[in-house]
Amino acid sequence: MAVPLRDRLFYIYFLSMKTYLFTLSLAVFWSLLTPSFGVAQDIVAGKEKAAVCASCHGADGNAVLPIYPNLAGQSWRYLYIQLKDFKEGRRHNNTMSPLAASLSREDMINIANYFAAQPVKANPYVPDEGKMKLGKAKADETLCSMCHLGEFKGQNEIPRVAGQQYDYVMEQLRNFKSRTRTNDAGNMTSVAQTLSEADMDNLANYIVSLR
Ligand code: HEC
Ligand code: HEC
Repeated sequence: MAVPLRDRLFYIYFLSMKTYLFTLSLAVFWSLLTPSFGVAQDIVAGKEKAAVCASCHGADGNAVLPIYPNLAGQSWRYLYIQLKDFKEGRRHNNTMSPLAASLSREDMINIANYFAAQPVKANPYVPDEGKMKLGKAKADETLCSMCHLGEFKGQNEIPRVAGQQYDYVMEQLRNFKSRTRTNDAGNMTSVAQTLSEADMDNLANYIVSLR
């Protein structure tokens, strides 16, 4: 028995709509899934690539000595930019520059995501109570929180400094002041000009005590 043409066309239309809707729902589902899936993949790949960093920055990004920065809990954007800056010569350090030079863009993204996802541990530095108070007052007066947010939590390209290592913080503030480190688009260079050695010591005592 012949099926009317209209019915046959409708059937073909029905089948193709079914395939279309199925594909569409798959695509929507996939796009919902992929962003978090991408970061998870970066973290897994980053863990392996970060093994060479462990001797100084700790396997979990909590530094083994106070001269090395913690990378744990830092924003991935900031870590990525610093690695890129070391590689391309905008920031220089005899240890880090050659290490970063051997990393590809993908390595940097993987490693930055791995360290950003690690929890920050309290570091063993015991801050001086008096200096902490003076440091907090100086931070309020200088409006550090305008960029670093309250309690130095950091945001996007602006680093978290809360709970960072004392020696490392002092070194960076001195480097910004003496213009040894200049990859900050002038933000920190001008702030650091207003700070004396005692101010830096007070600020570092305060910042290190933050969690
Ligand atoms: C031998 C010790 C050592 C090793 C190994 C090492 N680093 Fe570093 N790293 C340092 C030092 C020292 C600094 C501080 C440099 C400065 O003063 O500018 C630093 C700084 C950094 C910074 C900047 C942090 C900040 O807060 O601005 C990043 C990011 C970093 N290292 C990532 C890595 C990665 C990723 C690896 C592994 C591929 C690695 N490091 C291996 C010693 C090391
Ligand atoms: C106008 C914005 C701004 C203000 C205000 C500011 N900072 Fe920063 N700070 C930055 C930026 C941006 C960077 C990262 C620069 C880079 O990418 O290399 C930074 C980096 C730092 C670092 C180095 C962190 C690391 O991991 O290497 C320290 C320490 C720091 N700031 C402390 C302070 C303190 C203390 C104050 C207040 C006295 C302050 N900042 C005020 C923008 C600011």
